[in-house]
Amino acid sequence: MNGFKALIGSAPAFEALIRSTQMVATTDVTALIIGETGTGKELMAKAIHVESHRFHKVFTAINCAALPDELAESELFGHRRGAFSGATHDHLGRLRASEGGTVFLDEVNELSPAIQAKLLRFLESGECQAIGETHTHHCNVRIIAATNCDLHQWVEEGRFRKDLYYRLHVVPLAIPPLRERKEDINPLIHHFCNFFSRQYKLASPQFSKTALSILNSYHWPGNIRELRNFCERIVVLLPGKIIEPQNLPFEMQGKDSSITTKAPIITLPENGLALDQVEIELIHQAIARAQGNRSKAARLLGISRDTLCYRMQKHAIDI
Ligand SMILES: Nc1ncnc2c1ncn2[C@@H]1O[C@H](COP(=O)(O)OP(=O)(O)OP(=O)(O)O)[C@@H](O)[C@H]1O
Ligand SMILES: [Mg+2]
Repeated sequence: MNGFKALIGSAPAFEALIRSTQMVATTDVTALIIGETGTGKELMAKAIHVESHRFHKVFTAINCAALPDELAESELFGHRRGAFSGATHDHLGRLRASEGGTVFLDEVNELSPAIQAKLLRFLESGECQAIGETHTHHCNVRIIAATNCDLHQWVEEGRFRKDLYYRLHVVPLAIPPLRERKEDINPLIHHFCNFFSRQYKLASPQFSKTALSILNSYHWPGNIRELRNFCERIVVLLPGKIIEPQNLPFEMQGKDSSITTKAPIITLPENGLALDQVEIELIHQAIARAQGNRSKAARLLGISRDTLCYRMQKHAIDI
């Protein structure tokens, strides 16, 4: 079985990462996957699990950001019946429930200081203590953590335990964002268009050279997830078509992403406006600035002299 087959990419930085990840997979070392949103952290964690000797056991993904502080301890480490109000049954906790397998702690930076301390104890001793229990249980699970933030910075700012950071950071696996491995964009587009055309039984779209070059220079802030969603949309909406630049989402069309964030030259007032009135006003201003010279006024408005004369006539502007 090759769990890494699911990971598309042959950019040198990505291939180097896959090589080290393959080495990590066969050991039981704790790994920390670092990468922007949508770069494939969870997919990589699954690949590590599938490639490890734990592959026949469970892979449990836990999003630490979605665990409310007051539930996190019981969710991860379990509780005894009666340990707190509402604890009507014993609860094993997700670590012990994943015995023999792998637990993926996504957004690990979001764990509260108390849980960070408890996780560190678990990583150092392999011992779990449920809430309300006086003794500990040995638990054999491998931890893979992930974050999309600069955890070192969090340590500097006192928001994440330094000792836990070093414990997790034994093998850091940093997935480069898509904009830093542009060679992978075309193969990924090809892969996802084929995937979705098979799934929806639709013809795969083709891309014009210009459209492809725009997609290659786009900065993909949502990384592979964004590219995947884009391909799904294109397959569904434009099956079998040749995709041209005008078919691309607005945010992708400008090569320079700052173009789309430029302030508008005019803002529509809250209650709207009369467009004709704006045109009349601007023609008057241009003619005044050009001191009555119609050719100059037309240049100021970015139209031809004939168009200006036609519009002046239309609005009965007389100078
Ligand atoms: N190298 C890759 N090849 C093919 N598909 C990929 C690759 N990387 C990611 N994907 C796909 O992109 C999507 C996002 O991946 P994933 O959920 O693993 O990202 P993530 O880094 O965990 O995102 P987030 O930070 O938002 O949780 C998934 O559908 C995944 O299958
Ligand atoms: Mg994720």
